[in-house]
Amino acid sequence: MISRGPLLKVRRAEIDDAAAIAKVHVATWRSTYGGMLPDDFLASLAEAGYEERWQRVLADESSRVYVAADGREVVGFASGGRERAGEDGYGGELYAIYVLQDAQGRGHGRSLVQAVTAGLRELDLSDMIVWVLRDNTGARNFYERLGGVYVRAQPITIGSALLEEVSYGWRSLDDVVY
Ligand SMILES: CC(C)(COP(=O)(O)OP(=O)(O)OC[C@H]1O[C@@H](n2cnc3c(N)ncnc32)[C@H](O)[C@@H]1OP(=O)(O)O)[C@@H](O)C(=O)NCCC(=O)NCCS
Repeated sequence: MISRGPLLKVRRAEIDDAAAIAKVHVATWRSTYGGMLPDDFLASLAEAGYEERWQRVLADESSRVYVAADGREVVGFASGGRERAGEDGYGGELYAIYVLQDAQGRGHGRSLVQAVTAGLRELDLSDMIVWVLRDNTGARNFYERLGGVYVRAQPITIGSALLEEVSYGWRSLDDVVY
């Protein structure tokens, strides 16, 4: 467990966290991707569907999920595991990282990445790649701040939107700059 004061902590997520994670998931997609993804797509996101999805993910030991908690409230989450698409040179992947808008800029993101890299090491993975929408400059700045090196761009379809995503990589987990 990584602790920054008595109330803020990052811990491994449990099945019972699925509802709280789904809540953060939907809220942060709406606050982050307004203007990037179609309004009707963002409006259609349903917490119940994501809760089931996160329950399945949390039951599967092949990936790692962590939550950032402020007291009893889950304010962020991150997940990672084996790289999913066969990207050359990368075995580990940061699948997702989301912190509620009001809780951003207080170190939760950095602590969550630290937890995910520890989880990747447990899975015998030694590097990490992450994909991010090209226009998501906030997250891109965050990855660059953590020492991520631009890898490449590719198209991605989300809902009805044809977009571009870019990747950042750390050839070694030791290269992550905290
Ligand atoms: C990206 C995100 C996870 C970062 O988490 P966070 O808790 O806000 O970031 P932290 O407070 O841990 O910041 C860590 C460092 O990154 C920098 N950073 C974070 N967000 C930044 C931004 N938008 N622009 C520039 N720098 C940023 C911080 O300044 C800090 O560096 P410093 O200590 O030198 O000042 C969070 O802002 C978020 O959830 N954003 C919306 C969702 C999203 O885009 N997720 C990624 C999808 S691929």
